[in-house]
Amino acid sequence: MTLEPVDPALVPQRMVSGGAKMPAIGLGTFGSDHVPAERVAAAVYDAIMLGYRHVDCAAVYGNEHAIGESLERVIADGVRRDELWITSKLWNDNHDPSRVAPALERSLRDLRLDYLDLYLVHWPFPNTHQPGVDVGSRDSHAQPYRHERYMATWAELEKLVERGLVRHIGTSNMTIPKLRLVLSDAHIPPVANEMELHPHFQQPELFEFVRANGMVPIGFAPVGSPARPERDRTPDDSVDVEDPVIVGIARRHGVHPAVVCVKWAIRRGQVPIPFSTTPANYHANLRAAAGEPLGDADMAAMAGIDRNCRLIKGHVFLWKAGQRWEDLWDLDGTITPP
Ligand SMILES: NC(=O)c1ccc[n+]([C@@H]2O[C@H](COP(=O)([O-])OP(=O)(O)OC[C@H]3O[C@@H](n4cnc5c(N)ncnc54)[C@H](OP(=O)(O)O)[C@@H]3O)[C@@H](O)[C@H]2O)c1
Repeated sequence: MTLEPVDPALVPQRMVSGGAKMPAIGLGTFGSDHVPAERVAAAVYDAIMLGYRHVDCAAVYGNEHAIGESLERVIADGVRRDELWITSKLWNDNHDPSRVAPALERSLRDLRLDYLDLYLVHWPFPNTHQPGVDVGSRDSHAQPYRHERYMATWAELEKLVERGLVRHIGTSNMTIPKLRLVLSDAHIPPVANEMELHPHFQQPELFEFVRANGMVPIGFAPVGSPARPERDRTPDDSVDVEDPVIVGIARRHGVHPAVVCVKWAIRRGQVPIPFSTTPANYHANLRAAAGEPLGDADMAAMAGIDRNCRLIKGHVFLWKAGQRWEDLWDLDGTITPP
């Protein structure tokens, strides 16, 4: 089946603090520890040729070297670098100030770029894990969030902006109390916060806080991450694409429920970054972004199905015995004490 390219000009854009424009949908590239780098990279090439202009990468996904070949090819094939929005992320083992610039330089080399549009601190904790680990795995050197240490990392990201190696910097997996501190202490404030956002996990308070403070909410797991790693699955997790409201809207529009999730995200104002290596699916998601927005009645129905169901709970980043995953997320509005 030949897929018709989508004119990138039809995809809405989000204004970023400072005046740049971020395409309102990006292609995710985390293969959930099981999709080979080459398959993800092939999707990146094809998706850009179909009209995507935004790609969400990260060093820890282990595929930036392969994605770099695809980026080089699309540029050789005529896509201008300045039409693309490429994000990458600093992994947790590189928070030490001396490691930030080398980590970014490695991502740039792998991605075959001379600058990034956005560089995020992937998690607020300097705690790591190997690919494919199970839910009980812990870093024996795991640490709690320490604001002074986070800001020392952030200061290095600010230097990368000053050096022209990254255009914008942002946060990921943050909470309101942590963001409040970062916003008050940063010289260059974050322009975006990447956060889990799907119909069953709408995070209204954090979403509004992010927007009210001039940041773009970038929504990961927008389709409910049906292929996420085992460590991120618990029996209570709900399945967005099986929700009767979403299924009903999808039937009426003649689309897959995943497409409804994408349309909902875009109309709500976040930037979804659905992962897909299936051409018909990533094409459908792009068309969803470029086409008719979801109507008011559908948006109202979707607002009513939030289940506060976090899927990427982050157990592997806990720092001491006896903790619950909720301790990572500052649920009482204060940063969980060390
Ligand atoms: N900042 C962070 O800490 C963080 C955490 C998690 C994820 N992320 C980013 O967010 C991206 C997206 O999250 P995710 O990959 O966990 O989950 P997701 O995008 O919600 O779900 C991806 C899954 O949905 C399927 N899918 C996508 N579009 C579809 C469609 N139109 N119809 C049917 N199925 C569809 C894909 O299958 P096919 O491949 O077969 O289409 C894939 O299995 C990641 O790839 C990564 O870039 C960031």
